[in-house]
Amino acid sequence: MDQFVITGGNRLVGEVEISGAKNAALGILSAALLVHGPCRIENVPNIADVRIFLNVAQKIGAVVEKVDEKAFYINSSGINSGQAVFSELRNIRSSYYLLGALICKTKCVEIPLPGGCNIGARPIDQHIKGFEALGAKVHLGAEKMTLSADKLIGTQIYMDVVTVGATINLMMAAVLADGVTVLENAAREPHIVDVANFLNMMGANIKGAGTNRIRITGVKELTGGKTYSIIPDQIEAGTFMIAAAATGGDVYIRNIIPEHMDPLCAKLIEMNVNITQEDDWIRVVRNKELMPTDVITLPYPGFPTDLQPQMGALMCLSNGECKITETIFENRLQYTDQLKKMKAKIKVDGNVAVIKGVGKLSGATVKALDLRAGAAMIIAGLFATGQTRVQNIEYIDRGYEEIEVKLNKLGANISREL
Ligand code: EPZ
Repeated sequence: MDQFVITGGNRLVGEVEISGAKNAALGILSAALLVHGPCRIENVPNIADVRIFLNVAQKIGAVVEKVDEKAFYINSSGINSGQAVFSELRNIRSSYYLLGALICKTKCVEIPLPGGCNIGARPIDQHIKGFEALGAKVHLGAEKMTLSADKLIGTQIYMDVVTVGATINLMMAAVLADGVTVLENAAREPHIVDVANFLNMMGANIKGAGTNRIRITGVKELTGGKTYSIIPDQIEAGTFMIAAAATGGDVYIRNIIPEHMDPLCAKLIEMNVNITQEDDWIRVVRNKELMPTDVITLPYPGFPTDLQPQMGALMCLSNGECKITETIFENRLQYTDQLKKMKAKIKVDGNVAVIKGVGKLSGATVKALDLRAGAAMIIAGLFATGQTRVQNIEYIDRGYEEIEVKLNKLGANISREL
């Protein structure tokens, strides 16, 4: 099993270029399968989940051509099958986007039951409710699920839970449905807007993405022949901002959309971190004692659950007591046990963690329990005394492009051991 070996104590100084957003890329690459004809997608992050997805797209008949490290041509007009029960899809959550992307084209889509990080039960009842409302049939087997429909009829769908995945999935399915679909209580994350912007560029008629009410008027076909660039990854950006604060560093985070970082900036400023920003960068400087703060994770524009573990690591350095309330996933505080191996003082009760600032942590051998928990362990290792080994780093590679290369360029001491 690969692991990262980190020697703590170095300040991060310099500048880091943020890659394309993982959670936008997985939606947009799926949406590209709706398009009849070639489209060029730029700023694609070079991460494991994207590589798996592109490989599966080719297996079902799409033509995928790599233009350069960050850009691909995808031509989905040759897709002839919705049979995608491939083993490599078992571990990724976004496999379910194939349902919304392919159903109108292939009339029947079959995928493994969706996987994903073990941060909670991760049900798909809202996806199923929406597809059935649109007139599709859903069959859930022990290992796979099948969606079938001769055609989809637009309708009003009230989402009982604010869910990013179901919002994107049903938005894609509605694009080629007959008539108008309205998604009520929709999620508002920036990556939902990015998927909608991509689809509209290809000829879809989607209004209201980014609000809690999205109206999709079905069209006959999406034509290709255009280029779209994926938004920067707000979670990768936030991870580096927290790492800069944790190491008492001075880092420019470049190629970002600053307003996507507002919830995190507000919290870092409360903790006495100095934040300055211009149109596509944020500078993080921490040269004072960290004050405590509290975080409650909420759907966008609330504090993102995907930055919660990283904040947990930073809070170990505050000069007081911090509280984290995780309201999105029921099992996303498990990383605190790994921090305790590094001498953190954390009490967890249900979905609340109380973190007592201890001023420093001690290096240890810890595990990446999921993608963002792994990022939290790296941050802890960056400021811990001595050496930290982070195991199971295949989780981290799913969502971060060359994280150790970017960190070493900022002055960290981290190496990958195979
Ligand atoms: C997406 O997961 C992201 N993954 C997650 O990022 C992110 O944490 C999450 O959205 C929330 O922002 C991708 O985009 C690939 P949800 P998703 O559906 O779509 C409940 C990362 O680290 N729910 O918004 O699976 C669910 O249990 C990953 O990059 C239902 O009840 O999340 C959860 O409590 C981790 N029924 C809440 O909604 C459903 O049908 C939010 O889940 C669907 C979801």
